[in-house]
Amino acid sequence: MRQPLVAGNWKMNGSREGIFELLKGIREGVKDLAGVDIAVCPPYIYIPEVQGQLHGSPVSWGGQDLSLQQQGAYTGEVSGSMLLDFGCKYVIVGHSERRSYHAESDQQVAEKYQSALDVGLVPILCIGETLEQREQNATEDVVARQLDTVIARCGIAALKNGVIAYEPVWAIGTGKTATPEQAQQVHGFIRGMIAQHDSAVAEKIQILYGGSMKPSNAAELISKPDIDGGLIGGAALKAADFLDICKAASFQA
Ligand code: PGA
Repeated sequence: MRQPLVAGNWKMNGSREGIFELLKGIREGVKDLAGVDIAVCPPYIYIPEVQGQLHGSPVSWGGQDLSLQQQGAYTGEVSGSMLLDFGCKYVIVGHSERRSYHAESDQQVAEKYQSALDVGLVPILCIGETLEQREQNATEDVVARQLDTVIARCGIAALKNGVIAYEPVWAIGTGKTATPEQAQQVHGFIRGMIAQHDSAVAEKIQILYGGSMKPSNAAELISKPDIDGGLIGGAALKAADFLDICKAASFQA
């Protein structure tokens, strides 16, 4: 049985004061929860603050991206080992906002996946189609291509130590959630693809759904057999909403 994971992706939101309150709420609320992995991914600059407040709690934290490079003259970049230095467990790679605003290619995302593994971080690999691609019935082709690039670069065994987040781009931040059936269909496809390489890896890997997941739809989405939690944007910025989603996931365990 896979334990679900609920990870908050704060994106470029928050302030020192706001984050203090958010973390206080999360720390209090998670005391009553069991059977669910929980993590938050703040902007880099707040990671030390998050580490200070979450240290010793069951909540993990992670970065939203990492550099392709290990160290050196790369102005503005943050490496995986720096994230590790501040207690990060996870790092998001290939979020659609990085793919579209920073032109990250499938190949670069695969390199980042490998860089994360190399330093001992758990990569959360984001894959998903745009609205146009869905309308052209290309959803499976797109997620297969994104995933295949990682498998080709890192090997199937590398998925054992990572997490996948299926995030249809048209559902991110739009309030339009994929229906549980639509999401399950793609999650099942992804797991089936992995099973063709290695059934044990397919059975073990957590596949999260992301895209306007909120308290009102989380339980139904997570009740689907291949949906193992969520990557949460907007709803992760309010402790009560984030905790409600964690609760919904913990009931499934
Ligand atoms: P959203 O974002 O929950 O605000 O749609 C999810 C994500 O981009 O990871």
